[in-house]
Amino acid sequence: MNLRDYIRDIPDYPKPGIMFFDITPILKSPKALQYAVDGLAERFSGCGASKIVAAEARGFLFGTPLAVKMGIGFAPVRKPGKLPYKNRSVTYDLEYGTDTLCMHEDAIDPGDKVLIIDDLLATGGTAVGMVQLVRETGADIVGSGFVVELGFLDGVKTMQNAGVEPTCLLT
Ligand code: PRP
Repeated sequence: MNLRDYIRDIPDYPKPGIMFFDITPILKSPKALQYAVDGLAERFSGCGASKIVAAEARGFLFGTPLAVKMGIGFAPVRKPGKLPYKNRSVTYDLEYGTDTLCMHEDAIDPGDKVLIIDDLLATGGTAVGMVQLVRETGADIVGSGFVVELGFLDGVKTMQNAGVEPTCLLT
């Protein structure tokens, strides 16, 4: 199966000049969704992860089924004001402005081995934000996995500079 056939390119969304990668055709196809989750599980089999960390909203769509398949826990990373218990947060720079990601302060235990998952690696800002949130807990990061990478945006380099090697099903 070529997963690329299940990613729809939407020009000028959400703004003129942006090409949006719509992953909803993967979700629509039970075979494609299974293939994506199995592909991530295969790449991380034996990595020793005890928890998956993934960012809302699209990261949840792949992170939770992967956690079920791997038999490990899941820690959601959300935008401010969404998590009801005590939060830890990280603010990072965007091209214009900043963004903030939050996680419950008890979502990760110090001995956890964390696998970071998202649908898309673009600039790497979100993924590095998750790396920072996890490191603050004292837990180790054992890998990071993405369904698709936008090569021209340097997300891979940004993650490597943060000391985490990304694995992408589609490059
Ligand atoms: C998208 C995507 C990743 C992030 C990748 O999420 O799901 O989380 O952007 O971009 P980056 O590498 O430049 O940080 P978005 O912020 O659009 O939120 P959504 O999943 O809720 O749509």
